[in-house]
Amino acid sequence: MMNINPCQECRECDSGASCVQHNDDMSIIYRKIREVDGIALSSPIFFMGVTAQTKAMIDRCQCFWIERYVMKTRAYEGRRRPKGVFLSCAGSPKPIVFEPAVHTVKAFFAAIDYEYAGEVLLGHTDAPDLGSYKAAALENARAAGRKLCE
Ligand SMILES: Cc1cc2nc3c(=O)[nH]c(=O)nc-3n(C[C@H](O)[C@H](O)[C@H](O)COP(=O)(O)O)c2cc1C
Repeated sequence: MMNINPCQECRECDSGASCVQHNDDMSIIYRKIREVDGIALSSPIFFMGVTAQTKAMIDRCQCFWIERYVMKTRAYEGRRRPKGVFLSCAGSPKPIVFEPAVHTVKAFFAAIDYEYAGEVLLGHTDAPDLGSYKAAALENARAAGRKLCE
């Protein structure tokens, strides 16, 4: 598991500076965000949201938010706009269980200046037999994969 400290809201990145925390694995993620053509962000639903580890990673991308919305520079300057998809699962069969996390993840991809290309959401994982849910999720996964590669 990666070691990612939470954002301290020190506000150092407010002026476009990079994150002051240099002692964890976010440096790997910062570099990848600037290099890759697509990201599949995966997290199960914990208490109606993404996991604490995922949220810590997202919060540490506040420096990208500043870049995009305050400094008005583009993280993918000079290349095609990258895309992001969200993969998630939850114990509940109710689709509403994914809504808060989808909003969070959309905000994340907007902050890092990626196009949100869709999601694959598998509910009802508490059920002993996923049955038709699994088939539908696999079909969604193929569609999201195609969108990511378009
Ligand atoms: C701490 C914790 C909180 C959870 N909160 C929710 C929740 O709010 N809604 C829900 O539908 N499932 C919830 N679950 C169930 C998980 O989303 C579900 O078991 C999921 O399949 C876990 O992912 P995994 O199968 O990849 O391990 C929670 C599970 C844990 C451990």
